[in-house]
Amino acid sequence: MIRTPVLVGLGAMVPPRVVDNEELSQRLDTDDHWIRTRTGITRRHWAGPGTATGDLAVTAAERALRSAGGGPVDMLILATSTPDHPMPATAPGVAARLGLGPIAAFDVSVACAGFVYALATAAGAIAAGIAERVVVVGADIWSTRLNPQDRTTAVIFGDGAGAMVLRAGAPDEPGALAGFDLGGDGTFKDLALVPGGGSRGRSEPDGAGKPDGTGEPDGMGEAGGIGEADEYVTMRGKEIFTHAVHRMGESSAQLLKKIGWSASDIDWVAAHQANVRILHTVAGLLGIDRARVLIHLDRVGNTSAASIPLALTDAAAHGRLAPGQRVLMTAFGGGLSWGSAALTWPPIQVSDVAA
Ligand code: COA
Repeated sequence: MIRTPVLVGLGAMVPPRVVDNEELSQRLDTDDHWIRTRTGITRRHWAGPGTATGDLAVTAAERALRSAGGGPVDMLILATSTPDHPMPATAPGVAARLGLGPIAAFDVSVACAGFVYALATAAGAIAAGIAERVVVVGADIWSTRLNPQDRTTAVIFGDGAGAMVLRAGAPDEPGALAGFDLGGDGTFKDLALVPGGGSRGRSEPDGAGKPDGTGEPDGMGEAGGIGEADEYVTMRGKEIFTHAVHRMGESSAQLLKKIGWSASDIDWVAAHQANVRILHTVAGLLGIDRARVLIHLDRVGNTSAASIPLALTDAAAHGRLAPGQRVLMTAFGGGLSWGSAALTWPPIQVSDVAA
């Protein structure tokens, strides 16, 4: 029998500072009505100075391990696109702070689709006998990458972390992950992008820029500007919206077909929390009642790789998820990247996101 990943622990957190729409309206040309009606978001949490992605990840993972009742772990995978440093990966430090011992720990960088990719990676490691129990974390701090002048990104993103503990088990157990669908299309990579801080947009100590001012000293590369502003996220929101709806809808449908579930079997959709209009449109495409779609973004915004475990933790802590219910997860983000996963809900105890 194939060794199947089974969910045994769940936890999540958001940093304490709340930024509501009113606060953003005071410094940007926007207002609460626009943000609420166009995105569904009323507030989000932003990490304060001195708090890094790894700090949020540690707290979320601690809560997930507590929910799992402790026990050894032999792998930790962290989905993030806002690591503590360009090098090393953030995951080994998180594992060390959790006291997990000398285990395999690594980051996966797949933007807002990262958590589903990390889950699939964990599932592969379990199926291959590489790992018995894996902590999968999604954590991002996008608030430090937001251009303070850009109203389209500033209103959307929030910071947070969520984590699951998976163990090797059997497909008929509650908590078993039933399958995955993953995809990507790099031809649209510019739709959501942090241009600087990587090898294509090199920093220069004197800030003078490249010789011809184009950022392409040898004519070989793509434009690679320099400077602090290049480390802000840029986003073509309307186009992303269209791709997100199409890809999450298609990926979910592919997955349901693959595992033999129909839309009417789905009790809850835990989709990446980007925009309430995206979530409702995806539900419509799948023929699932929008009341079955978990909504958490109203209180936390788009928390990128953290959004699915955050939404699940919020729902579980408020008693909305019952053991045996069927849950569809689907995510979409920069890359472009997307992915879906499905599971039956296990009997687990979860503490509140803000606890
Ligand atoms: N406040 C007020 N007005 C705003 C605004 C804001 N925060 N942001 C944009 N606008 C304006 C635009 O400038 C535009 O004005 P114009 O008509 O005078 O040109 C108008 O609102 C409509 O802009 P548009 O981009 O068509 O809005 P939209 O309905 O598509 O909503 C997003 C914009 C970004 C909220 C929406 O496209 C979205 O959620 N996209 C997905 C983003 C996402 O998921 N990103 C993360 C994954 S990578």
